[in-house]
Amino acid sequence: MIASLLSIRDLDRAGIERILAEAAVFQKDGPRITRKYPTLRGKTVVNLFYEASTRTRTSFELAAKRLSADVVNFTAGGSAVEKGESLKDTARTIEAMGVDLIVCRHASSGAPHRLHEWVSAGVINAGDGMHEHPTQALLDLYTMRQHFESFDGLRVAIVGDVLHSRVARSEIWGLQTMGAEVTLVGPPTLMPPQAEGWGVEVTPDVDAVLPKADVVYLLRMQLERMDAGYVPTLREYARLWGLDAARAAMLKEDAIIMHPGPMNRGVEIAADPAELPRSVITSQVANGVAVRMALLYLMLGGRDARAEVPVE
Ligand code: CP
Repeated sequence: MIASLLSIRDLDRAGIERILAEAAVFQKDGPRITRKYPTLRGKTVVNLFYEASTRTRTSFELAAKRLSADVVNFTAGGSAVEKGESLKDTARTIEAMGVDLIVCRHASSGAPHRLHEWVSAGVINAGDGMHEHPTQALLDLYTMRQHFESFDGLRVAIVGDVLHSRVARSEIWGLQTMGAEVTLVGPPTLMPPQAEGWGVEVTPDVDAVLPKADVVYLLRMQLERMDAGYVPTLREYARLWGLDAARAAMLKEDAIIMHPGPMNRGVEIAADPAELPRSVITSQVANGVAVRMALLYLMLGGRDARAEVPVE
């Protein structure tokens, strides 16, 4: 197994399948994992978060704790970063205390890659700028696998702000590795020019795509990364590309709705479709713990994952 995960492209199909299979073992008693495993006792995981997170940071912490690793949560606010300490010095300081794995989120694309050059511990990219978010793609693949037997020929429509989305990039490359067909849908102003070369279909016509999709994956409008008028107004965006009740009614009977969170309700998704039985957004969050447990277990080479002990 790989020692670091910087991009979803670090994994081939067999590598992804292995993580999904191990996650299913951890979830064998249900989606919420209540058992604690001794497998990573003596290992230390640091969550090094320079950017806000709810789902990713919490689920990495829960995953590491469920595996009995020691967990340190580092956020830039309240640390020596506020006194000007660099990422390199911060990383080396943390590593000097003896850590096995650093989970890094950073607003700058490529920050986890630089970290990987500076430290001997493993590094997981927990989201870097507009670049990648590989563990989001893994948990999304796991969630899709719960609803569809095979990825081969699965039609996934990724809708919205592809330009600023690290989730979209990891999602596209992960889905393609598994054999799915990806269509990117959204305003041309929010589509990266290089998307045409990614082996995906690109279209602004959401109403033409929805009836054919098995999975509708809505992207968050990355308002914090927008410094220009990419869409006339958010109301206009919602009207032309948002998933409202009428558009949800166009979906195939077994199609599912996904969103990485946090949602801008009323923009990329209306309140009602977000609550439909076919919306698996809450499952995505629950599955994040299992998938990250599988990844930590496989990367840190722990003892038998199935040698469980009851929760203390
Ligand atoms: N999906 C996701 O990365 O959410 P957070 O920003 O809350 O971690």
